[in-house]
This record gives sequence, structure tokens and C-alpha cells, in this order.
Amino acid sequence: MRDDPILTAVQNQYGAVARSQLSNDSAAIRAVAQAFGYTAEELATQPAEANMGLSCGNPVALAGLREGEVVVDLGCGGGLDVLLAARSVGPRGRAIGIDMTPDMLDRARAGAAQVGAENVEFHQARIDQLPLADDLVDCVISNCVINLVPDKPAAFREILRVLKPGGRLAISDIALRKPLPKDVAEDVQAYVGCIAGAMRIEEYERLLRDAGFQSVVVQDTGSDLNAYAQAGATVCCSSGACSTSGAEPAGDSSPVHDGLANVLSGLDVNAYAASVRVHGLKPGGPLPVLSAEEALTATPAPAAGGCCGGQACC
Ligand SMILES: C[S@@+](CC[C@H](N)C(=O)[O-])C[C@H]1O[C@@H](n2cnc3c(N)ncnc32)[C@H](O)[C@@H]1O
Repeated sequence: MRDDPILTAVQNQYGAVARSQLSNDSAAIRAVAQAFGYTAEELATQPAEANMGLSCGNPVALAGLREGEVVVDLGCGGGLDVLLAARSVGPRGRAIGIDMTPDMLDRARAGAAQVGAENVEFHQARIDQLPLADDLVDCVISNCVINLVPDKPAAFREILRVLKPGGRLAISDIALRKPLPKDVAEDVQAYVGCIAGAMRIEEYERLLRDAGFQSVVVQDTGSDLNAYAQAGATVCCSSGACSTSGAEPAGDSSPVHDGLANVLSGLDVNAYAASVRVHGLKPGGPLPVLSAEEALTATPAPAAGGCCGGQACC
């Protein structure tokens, strides 16, 4: 798992985030999540540690989950979307979280135990090597993670493999509106912060179609990624805890947030990157109750805000 330097950097830095004190108890972290479409009720009913302000959308709100379905969250982090999905699919359904970072899975498992969720399970694995059987899953969700995967075609092939015929994708992610400046595109902090590994919107659609998905939609949500920077500044600096201040980072700071802030200072991130919602279907199976296009129009756009702005990813 650790032989690829990019994967190692991503795993190390998200491990540090998982070990930090970032949680929904911070007003700034709550503000980021709400800016991306989480309701106050969704956040208040889940463990505070499940939300670290790492999201760039609310994929469960896009997914149209039904009772009894099997749903998989790729790059589940602290487990917020797994727990919300578990609630939607009910006791006859299953919500499975996949993440390669052990400390994230520790957070997620502790949160599931805290709320007594019995229809959830978590596995340590890479997204391009899923430990799941073929044709198992009704819906694959993911939140601000596909941009972090080095081999995106392999990830899309794996997703297609584990979906049942007729199964669907509901992903929130970052994609590029135009190529990044070279120095940002080659910066590892910009990669870990969900910007430099992002694909162009057209490439996202093409790779999904090439993998075999149909009814592919990659829609720019129009969220203001700089709004996230404002929340990130509060997270980092309100307690005088910025690493740039010379003080020791306090509990509400993290290497991902601080590193990205340095890389993106002076960049109009909205000119280059966008929060997107992604839908697609695995061919076969019965006709979907809701087509990908209908699911898009039925889903309200998130309020202002966006992941991965000037201060923090995703
Ligand atoms: C930006 S965080 C998002 C976490 C969560 N989805 C959320 O919205 O709070 C990215 C997560 O994806 C995981 N991750 C990144 N690349 C991965 C890969 N190739 N395979 C599995 N997990 C990965 C990281 O460990 C981290 O927990």
C-alpha cells in the first residue's frame, strides 16, 4: 500500500487529520459541512468526530437510497456518510465504508459504536483494489476522494465490477474547469488537498464512459470554493493556532488544511476548480426508478461554499 509516494503522502496526512481534534464541535467545521448541503439535523444526530470538514458535497442526498440497499462509501474518512447511508437503507440494508488510512477507520468504527449502528462495516483497502465481490452493491457513494486516487481508470473499473447490473454512482468530488498553473499542478500539498489530482470535467465524463458506465453526468455545482477558505481560516486561525503563526498547531489545525493554504494563497481557486456531483449507471438490470438526470434535477444545489478552497480541502 505504501509503495506509491503519492498514496503514502495522502495516507500520512489524512492519518494526521484523523488523529487531530477536528470535529463537528467546531462551528467552522459545521459551517463547511452545511455549506456543502448537510442539514443541521444530519450533523447533530451523528458523532461529532465523524465530521472533520473534509467533504465537498453530500452524496447521500444525491443517491436516492432505498430501504434494504447495499451502499459503499469509497474513502469514508470518519464515517459521516456511511452512518447517514446506514440510516437510509435501514436494518435490512448494509452500509460499507472503505478507506486506506487506519486512523480514519478507527474514528469511523468508534462513531458507529457510539450511535449503535449495526448495519455498517468498515474495511481498510485501496479504492482501486476493493475487497468486495462482483455485482454486490446497489449504490456507490464517495465524497471528495476520487481526485486523490492516482489510477482513476482502475478505480472506475473496480466500482463497475462491484456494482450490481443497474447499480448507480452518486459522487461528490472536485474537478477542474481549466488546467492548473504548473507549480500548483506539481505540488504534493495541492494534491493531498484535493486540487492537483483533480481531472478536467470532460475527462471525468470520458473516463467513466470508457470504464463502461452509462447515463454519465458530471455537473459543476457552482459552489464558491473560496467560501470554504473563509471557514478554513476560522478553523485554523481563530485560536491563534496556525502553524504559520509560530505557535504549535492546536487541536483544530491539520497538515492538510495548513499545507493547502500555503500552496493556494494568491490563486483564484474558483477559476480553476469546481465542486461537482457525479452520476452514472452500470448497464443492465431493471430500469432505474430515478434516472441520473432526474436525480440531478431533484437534488437541491448546496448553499454557498465548497471544499478545497484556499485554506483546506475537502
Ligand atoms: C478528503 S478525505 C474525505 C473523507 C470523507 N469522504 C469525508 O467526506 O469526510 C479523503 C479520504 O479518502 C481516503 N483515501 C484517499 N485515497 C484513497 C485511496 N486510494 N483508497 C482508499 N482511501 C483513500 C483518505 O484516507 C481519507 O480518509
